Amino acid sequence: MIPQEIIRAKRDGHELGADDIAAFTAGLTNDKVTEGQAAAFAMAVYFNGLNIAERVALTKAMRDSGTVLRWDDMPGPVLDKHSTGGVGDTVSLMVAPMIAACGGYVPMISGRGLGHTGGTSDKFESIPGYVTTPSMDAFKAVVRDVGCAVIGSTPDLAPADRRLYGIRDVTATIESIGLITASILSKKLAGGLQALVMDVKCGSGAFMTTLPKARELAQSIAKVATGAGLPTTAFITDMDQPLANAAGNTVEVAYAIDYLTGTRREQRMHEVVMALSTELLLLGKLSKSKAAARTQLQAALDSGAAAERFDKMVAGLGGPKNVIEDPWKHMTRAPQQVAIAPLHAGPVTAIDNRAVGMVVVALGGGRTRPQDPIDHAVGLTSLAAIGDTVGPDRPLAIVHARTDGQVAEATNLVRAAYRVGGRAKPTRAAVLDRITV
Ligand code: URA
Repeated sequence: MIPQEIIRAKRDGHELGADDIAAFTAGLTNDKVTEGQAAAFAMAVYFNGLNIAERVALTKAMRDSGTVLRWDDMPGPVLDKHSTGGVGDTVSLMVAPMIAACGGYVPMISGRGLGHTGGTSDKFESIPGYVTTPSMDAFKAVVRDVGCAVIGSTPDLAPADRRLYGIRDVTATIESIGLITASILSKKLAGGLQALVMDVKCGSGAFMTTLPKARELAQSIAKVATGAGLPTTAFITDMDQPLANAAGNTVEVAYAIDYLTGTRREQRMHEVVMALSTELLLLGKLSKSKAAARTQLQAALDSGAAAERFDKMVAGLGGPKNVIEDPWKHMTRAPQQVAIAPLHAGPVTAIDNRAVGMVVVALGGGRTRPQDPIDHAVGLTSLAAIGDTVGPDRPLAIVHARTDGQVAEATNLVRAAYRVGGRAKPTRAAVLDRITV
């Protein structure tokens, strides 16, 4: 393999063969491809794209660059859900135990926060003792015993993607639909799944801000995953406003526990959780129809079975027992909780959702560099939604912070992120589209 010949072919707009893609990918893992060559390859792909066959080849090659998990001894279907990332996106925390309660097995390998979006593994690290990097044996044991385990990414899954992603991140080549598709799916395929549901977020708080772009990514993911042997349905869901009314790590775990126990269950969140979970039960052949799936899922919530799976998973991965009974006995609240009043009263007509996510980053709850530590306790709760009337009795949000300076900064940033009054943008449905191949 001569890396520069492969780069040259892509630079000149030619289709790459699966063998060339496999050889280049192997070079990413064994360092035969230099950093400069990987960057040039990514830029050539950025400009000239990859067709579906090339995306499938890259996905499979990156999957095979490391360990591919096997779940032969699971008594039920092995299923997973993945999101492209958003603000107040606690969906994974609910879907995993709900599917487990309905007979599925969910080995969820989740990511850390990226830019303004929160990361599921960061959220679970809010729970004292919870280990997001267990041994593979421990991970498998919890999946088998409980039906779900949510952990962080491991270096031995798709190492070629890890290297290429790091180079893309610093060479302005993240935003390539082909590379994003292969990157996400290589890790999911390495997880050894039988079916996947993708949640492609769309709106001001998502990486795909427009519906056409979100649809392009969703179609790419559904086609490439299925082409690589992983039956996948992709949903496009709204991210023009926070999905949960909480954003931050500890506060989102508390929100998810409230949802699972039925303490509060907001409609938009419920729609997304039910749509994705229903699809997983159908893909896993655990339900015969959409209506039956919804009934099973509602029963798993109403009976407490889903909450119980969450509890058992937390304990199985090193966290406290009975976390759902009193989460705040175990998790730490930020010392200050202060209401952010709007500058004037009126209806919320638009939200810069990315800016809301960046408030959490500014508070220290997210990262500006991958190696940064985060403060799990900070964040926002009681976030007003589009259409809510805010004023003296209804703040825009409550900020959870450590210092007066943080409260003042967050107050200014949240006020700037919300438009109050003026012409309202029509509120979109929470689930915008469902894409299959
Ligand atoms: N998430 C990934 O895992 N890869 C990408 O390329 C983008 C988002």
